[in-house]
Amino acid sequence: MPLCDARTQQKVIPVLREVVTRRRQTIPSIERRQQLVDQRLAAGYKLAAAGVVFGPGLALFTGGILNDLTNQRACTMSEHIAVLPNKQPALRVMPMPSDANQYGDIFGGWIMSQVDIAGAIAAKHRARGRVATVAVDSFVFNQPVSVGDVVSFFAEVVATGRTSIKVNVEVFAERNPDQPITVKVTEATLSYVAINQQGDKRELPPAAD
Ligand SMILES: CC(C)(COP(=O)(O)OP(=O)(O)OC[C@H]1O[C@@H](n2cnc3c(N)ncnc32)[C@H](O)[C@@H]1OP(=O)(O)O)[C@@H](O)C(=O)NCCC(=O)NCCS
Repeated sequence: MPLCDARTQQKVIPVLREVVTRRRQTIPSIERRQQLVDQRLAAGYKLAAAGVVFGPGLALFTGGILNDLTNQRACTMSEHIAVLPNKQPALRVMPMPSDANQYGDIFGGWIMSQVDIAGAIAAKHRARGRVATVAVDSFVFNQPVSVGDVVSFFAEVVATGRTSIKVNVEVFAERNPDQPITVKVTEATLSYVAINQQGDKRELPPAAD
């Protein structure tokens, strides 16, 4: 059964013929196709050869820039090279990629929360019970922390009042496992208040020796 009547076929068939003829003219012969492939391969080889010639130069150039940057960072870091204090850290953590920005530097907020936790551990120990952070007295970020650094938080009670406890927290990062260095990255002082189960301030117990 025809798809359309004879009059329509008479109109449509010449148009279809024309389309098919044009299409045949634009389809390259097998020889022509082989020629195109050869041309593309030759262009590819030229690019590859350019890569071989320029690649090492580019690598040296980029390497030089990276080396300069690394040296610059090493120079500024050398001012902060430190040894870990000879005491137990309150906290030791390795930041993960989810704690970093797109450049691999750890968010300041991540460090601040860890510092608050480390300080609270010391304050809770002194208060022998629950504490609340009442103030962040000072906070200095000396050096960036990177993904994979082992970060140690050393907390020390530096002053106490009737209900409050002031804690100093020093933060060190251990990095470059193949050539390990320790860098002091942050220092902060925070105040905590001893509170009871209702969240009201309470007097500190006497200090244990
Ligand atoms: C902590 C809290 C119970 C203190 O109650 P308060 O009635 O305001 O207490 P006061 O003003 O009498 O201060 C209590 C102590 O904190 C000290 N303090 C208060 N504000 C301070 C500040 N900005 N910096 C340092 N110390 C401070 C006071 O000097 C006092 O110390 P002392 O008893 O040793 O002399 C109350 O402020 C609170 O619940 N704050 C919210 C805590 C919190 O949720 N922290 C988490 C933040 S996300």
